[in-house]
Order: sequence, then C-alpha cells, then structure tokens
Amino acid sequence: MSFPITRHRRLRGSAGIRGMVRETVLNVLDFVQPIFVTYGTGVRNEISSMPGVYHFSLDTLKAEVDEIAALGIPAVLLFGIPETKDAIGSSGFAEDGIVQEATRLIKQWYPELLVVADTCLCEFTDHGHCGMVHTHTVDGVVHGDVINDASLELLTRTAVSQAKAGADIIAPSNMMDGFVEAIRAGLDDNGFEHIPIMSYSVKYASAFYGPFREAADSAPQFGNRKTYQMDPANVREALREAESDVLEGADMLMVKPALAYLDVIRMIREQFDLPLVAYNVSGEYSMVKAAAQQGWINEQAVVLEMLTGMKRAGADIIITYFSKDAARWLRE
Ligand code: PBG
Repeated sequence: MSFPITRHRRLRGSAGIRGMVRETVLNVLDFVQPIFVTYGTGVRNEISSMPGVYHFSLDTLKAEVDEIAALGIPAVLLFGIPETKDAIGSSGFAEDGIVQEATRLIKQWYPELLVVADTCLCEFTDHGHCGMVHTHTVDGVVHGDVINDASLELLTRTAVSQAKAGADIIAPSNMMDGFVEAIRAGLDDNGFEHIPIMSYSVKYASAFYGPFREAADSAPQFGNRKTYQMDPANVREALREAESDVLEGADMLMVKPALAYLDVIRMIREQFDLPLVAYNVSGEYSMVKAAAQQGWINEQAVVLEMLTGMKRAGADIIITYFSKDAARWLRE
C-alpha cells in the first residue's frame, strides 16, 4: 500500500497549529469605520438599506465615537449630509460645514483618533455629481458632464477646509484627473504639508454604491458617474490611475469596491509600494446583512472571511461598515 508523502492535513490538525501557520491575520488597527453626520438634534436614524448604520447629529455623535474609540479602532471616515445643496457644493467647503464641525468635535473628544475626510462634492451638490457640471436640456431631459479642471479648485478648497478643521488624512474620492496634485498643492500652500492624502485611486463606477447613495443622499440627478469613475471591466487602466496618483504625490492608494475587485487589489499591491486601502463598500455590507437577517449565512464568519480575503489580496487597511462588529469579534 502506498501512502501520500505530503499530508497537508498535518498542519490543520488543531486550532493551535492552524494559528501557527496562519498567513493572514486581521487586526483592529487595519480598520476604518465610516460615519454619516447630519444636522438636527437627537438624530440617530438607521439607514434602511444598511441595518446597523446610522445618521448621527452632532449631539448623538459622541456616543458612537466613544464606542469606536473603546473598541480600539484607529480611524473614522466622515461623510456629511448638509442642510443645503447648490450647484458647486459650497457646504462641502464651508468653515462651519457638517463634516468640518464633526471633525472639530471628534478631535476635541479623541485627539488620538484619526479623522479621515472624504473629499468629494456629490453629497453637497444639488445635481449629485462629484464636481461642477455643464448641463443642457433636450426635450426636457437634462444632459451634462462634470467639468474637470474647474472642479479641482472646489475640491481643493474642500480638502483645505477639512484639514483646517483638524482632519488627519484627506481622502479624495471624486476621480477628477489631477485631483491628487491639485489637493497636494492646496494643502501645502496652506501649511498642511504634513497631512497625508489617501487617494481613491482606483474607484470603479459600481452598482455596489447603491445603499451609500441613499445614506448620503448623493445619487446623481441626471446621468451617471461613468465619465469619471472607472469601467468595472478594466484592470490595466487601474495601473495607470494608480501610477498617476503616485506621481502626483499620493501617500496611500485605494481600490474600491473590494469584493469584486480582489484581483485589482492584488495587482496594485504587486506594482506599488504605498500602503493600500480596500473599501468594503455599502452594497457589500448590505448584501451580507440581508442574507444574515434571513438566516442564510453566518454573519460573523462571513464578514471575517471577507475581510481576511481583502487583506490576503494585499490590502493593508480596510474601510468597512463592519469595523465595530469585526473589532468585537476579534476580541472574542
Ligand atoms: C463619494 C463617495 C461614494 C462612496 C464613497 N465616497 C459614492 C459614489 O461615488 O457614488 C461610496 C461608498 C460606499 O458605497 O460605501 N463620491
């Protein structure tokens, strides 16, 4: 009788040995928890398509941030729902804008907690696009597109105002050409040369952002984001996007979404040395929540498996709505 020489199962026989040979370990220090902030008082409204994720007003925000800090999560990513919107998204760069106010408060409460500011205008523009638009109407239907270079100026103002409010990291998600260079110059001109840019370098025009757009009230009012966000079919283009961000001075790169793009994460990891962020986006969160609510999957096991997969693919940092849950589970 012949026996297998190689027995892979030898290294799987007990929890002890599995732990010893484990190649990828999730760490709470890798997580970034997104938070949605809004005006009003006493607001703690659950987002219907994202169970467990809430809109917080500035007075209810403290309890949430207390919880995040107590779990040892090192960073939050802020999204704002403004009181008023206009064509240029001016509440995105107002000194007393909702993100700026929330940033100041969080930095007062927890100077050590990193505040990452998402630098985009889609939450603040009345048309829901990520920059300034040119429009024309044909037979009552509005057409238009985002004007790249004019938008850069607004985005730079937004980033500078976020840094002034105390943001530790600027995370531009708008996908305009030249946004890293423009924002870097704006930050440097204003004395924020020490503030890193976490660039949403490789951001796809993804249907997985659906629940976020409900949460942030940022769905485009006409057209879509395909003229500035990437085609999901492309991967070589991801290299070009990442390369220009590196040349423009990005400090960290990001791939977004994560689950359907693990190959892209792996490729960017292999080609570039900068810290790499994976954004486990809203639709990825909602799918898991929905299946878990039906009792179809084991939520904890699935979430930890997904997050491990992102890290195994090459992500150093994971932005996820599951940060608090995952931090708790990792403690158990
Ligand atoms: C802003 C922005 C979006 C997300 C993060 N920043 C939405 C979009 O591009 O439409 C999506 C996040 C998520 O789905 O969790 N541009």
